[in-house]
Amino acid sequence: MSYRLTVMGTGYLGATHAACMAALGFEVLGLDVDPDKIARLRAGDLPIHEPGLQDLLQSGLASGRLRFTTSYEEAAEFGDVHFVCVGTPQKKGEYAADVSYLDAVVESLAPHLTRQCLVVGKSTVPVGTAQRLADKLALLAPAADLVELAWNPEFLREGFAVKDTMNPDRIVLGVVSDKAEKVMREVYEPMLSAGTPLIITDYPTAELVKVAANAFLATKISFINAMAEVCEAAHADVKDLSLALSFDERIGGRFLNPGLGFGGGCLPKDIRAFMARAGELGADQALTFLREVDAINMRRRARMVDLARELAGGSFRGCSVTVLGAAFKPNSDDIRDSPALDVALKIQEQGGKVTVYDPVALDNVRKAHPNLSVGSSALEAAQGAHVVLLLTEWPEFTELDPETLGGVVASRRIVDGRNALDAETWRASGWHYRALGRP
Ligand code: UGA
Repeated sequence: MSYRLTVMGTGYLGATHAACMAALGFEVLGLDVDPDKIARLRAGDLPIHEPGLQDLLQSGLASGRLRFTTSYEEAAEFGDVHFVCVGTPQKKGEYAADVSYLDAVVESLAPHLTRQCLVVGKSTVPVGTAQRLADKLALLAPAADLVELAWNPEFLREGFAVKDTMNPDRIVLGVVSDKAEKVMREVYEPMLSAGTPLIITDYPTAELVKVAANAFLATKISFINAMAEVCEAAHADVKDLSLALSFDERIGGRFLNPGLGFGGGCLPKDIRAFMARAGELGADQALTFLREVDAINMRRRARMVDLARELAGGSFRGCSVTVLGAAFKPNSDDIRDSPALDVALKIQEQGGKVTVYDPVALDNVRKAHPNLSVGSSALEAAQGAHVVLLLTEWPEFTELDPETLGGVVASRRIVDGRNALDAETWRASGWHYRALGRP
């Protein structure tokens, strides 16, 4: 049987999941409560930057297999499997995650569920949420026993979302019945037959796998950034140190790039929500190290501002600072908790004349920070700069020619916030080159 799928929430995760499942041959109905977003998606106009996704969206629409709606009634009528992909942002003024969008989906969908179906949670949640939502479904759905919940965390990275969805590292499934497992095996058959490992487990374990993975990644990044702090104090070079560590297969080189640290809509808020939830469960001691992971990460941003001020001669007054990069990482237009933007705003607050350039994130920057000046290219943004900061390692920045850039700036001073440039080449062109964690 070919199941009909719905995808609730059409952000980075949901839009990708909907378009990829349609590309695999399923009939898919995407739902969002934001009518503007739905209008754009229906027109084949992807509201986010994600390599390869616009094409998949358009081919899905053209095939007739991919459609969008704002109606829960229509979605309930249509779907055999309902994927829930809404966001769980950090609560204002607290560490905990705000799961109200998830509750809103269940409360809006459940009253229309009059036949057999499976609801599949993909959002990142505090452990215990799945069971709570399962109970709520059972209470609110007219089809009661015929409606089941499964938990299937998503591990995709922005910038590689299509690839990660089509070829995941693993599929994790929290289920309470063989029936749910059977349905999910059919849905993910293309991935499973390609050899993707499948881990069948219970709800809490499935929920925890996701936050544990992000906590591990955040810890690895903060570990190397802590080493960068020690390297600075000891006049050692963290880039060489990281390279040397990477050859130990038990350590590995991925997520071991020292620099400005992690940002985005996931890692920072996920480790905080994980600590908050562990506290509620009485297991807070187990995760106190994540407080340190977070603190190391935030210190990188402060250190970057200090280094830039040092290069500016001790004060940002009267100083033009060019910030290359605004997205939280390359290949994305996402500026949520972006380290680059955070640094740009802090320098502006301290009196610097800041100009930001990013290949794809400037529309989002203009909307969120209308008072921040933006350039139309890296070279234009760098006109007359006293200090240049490379804060997101887009290839077009790492490939910049030091002579060409040197021709437009007022003084050749650069801080490489991502350890992405070749120090020797830049110094040979007369640049005062500095990087976090290096002499
Ligand atoms: C992260 C995880 O990698 C995904 O597996 C997960 O599914 C996703 O969160 C999520 O929870 O939805 P993402 O936020 O897209 O994915 O970005 P990452 O590629 O993990 O990068 C996160 C941050 O770490 C970026 O700011 C990046 O610049 C930084 N980073 C990464 C470093 O500072 N150093 C590194 O070595 C690697």
